[in-house]
Amino acid sequence: MNIVLIGFMGSGKTTFGQWLADKQAMNLVDTDEFIEALEGRSVKEIFAMEGEGYFRSLETETLKMLLGRSDQDPERKKMLKESSVISVGGGLPMTPENQPMLQELGKIVFLAASKEELVRRLSNDTSRPLLAGHDLAQRIEELIALRNDTYEDLCDIIVETDGKSMNDLWKEIFDEFAKA
Ligand code: S3P
Repeated sequence: MNIVLIGFMGSGKTTFGQWLADKQAMNLVDTDEFIEALEGRSVKEIFAMEGEGYFRSLETETLKMLLGRSDQDPERKKMLKESSVISVGGGLPMTPENQPMLQELGKIVFLAASKEELVRRLSNDTSRPLLAGHDLAQRIEELIALRNDTYEDLCDIIVETDGKSMNDLWKEIFDEFAKA
């Protein structure tokens, strides 16, 4: 089984994804890291030099590569390995073209966090271009309002992360999938 982690910046996708992959001996794909490796520069640099649109096109290309549908690969080799955790950037699920591909990749888990918790976790962050130069709490509120419905509609399960350990999160996810 593959598990796709979606959610807001700071919701813990990367950290929990890494923990889960280690614990379950699963492969880990982090779309931001995949893009950074592909481009040889950071997400922040890509935004600054090429703009958000270009970054979003790379997100779609990443999903196509994972599924073996990229025009850049004439052999159409599926890069996704069996039994993977795929942690995706917070904005990736907002591109309509990406949504069916995410569903195809695996079971989608929405890691949810309260606005207060996100503000706390992101208050010293300088790596996220979409937050730079804004009032943090206000910006987070705006983006949550734009994104939460999409995250909820797209996911198979929602896990509230506030105050929970990695083990708690995994237990909830595991129990939910065991029921299905
Ligand atoms: C973004 C989230 C970031 C990264 C980029 C844009 C977003 O990933 O993809 O800065 O639009 O929410 P994380 O969710 O891993 O922080």
